[in-house]
Amino acid sequence: MYTGQKVRLRAYTREDISIRLNYINDIEIANLLTADIPYPILLHEEEKWFESITSQSDRYMFAIETIEDNRFIGGCSINSIDWKNSVATVGIFIGHKDYWGHGYGNDAMNILISFIFNQMNINKIRLISYSFNKRAIKSFEKCGFVIEGILRKEVFKDGIYYDKIAMGILREEFLKNMAADK
Ligand SMILES: CC(C)(COP(=O)(O)OP(=O)(O)OC[C@H]1O[C@@H](n2cnc3c(N)ncnc32)[C@H](O)[C@@H]1OP(=O)(O)O)[C@@H](O)C(=O)NCCC(=O)NCCS
Repeated sequence: MYTGQKVRLRAYTREDISIRLNYINDIEIANLLTADIPYPILLHEEEKWFESITSQSDRYMFAIETIEDNRFIGGCSINSIDWKNSVATVGIFIGHKDYWGHGYGNDAMNILISFIFNQMNINKIRLISYSFNKRAIKSFEKCGFVIEGILRKEVFKDGIYYDKIAMGILREEFLKNMAADK
């Protein structure tokens, strides 16, 4: 269990399954998540996903829980690791909308970043956001991610093509930020 200022990251439990299903089947949230997550997800698929996470060594799945009232509000993950080049790809969602824009996502991502750079021998963390997801981009920038590239018109939503935004943070940048915070 990894603890920050507002949230802790913990392992998923069976009790999280139905709540998580409601979170990611909310169309507003589904629209912000990557297209390779199907919509809507069925209960048996979600249960299968839960069973699968226990045995996957290169995928780290964390439930995000509030410190104040132990509420399960979302999840974050290392989705893949390129060990040869030392790059981890991550993702995050806060599924309980009351918690958007209050620093919970920022805190959870900071814990995930610290976990990766302090506990794993990884040199870079990357993620992809959508150009219209301004809250996410701002939150990730607050964590130290920088915009590295624009993948033009790779997302089709409601008849419009949007850009994907590639963001990344290097180990050296993380260490510099840590030193500056002291
Ligand atoms: C993205 C997400 C994890 C961010 O977590 P959060 O707790 O909501 O965000 P934070 O409070 O850490 O930071 C949000 C920042 O964006 C700002 N913001 C909010 N809406 C904004 C907008 N429309 N334009 C610009 N900035 C905005 C907030 O003011 C805040 O900045 P501040 O602290 O300087 O005031 C969360 O909103 C979420 O899970 N959303 C749904 C799923 C999703 O988008 N996942 C990411 C996919 S890449």
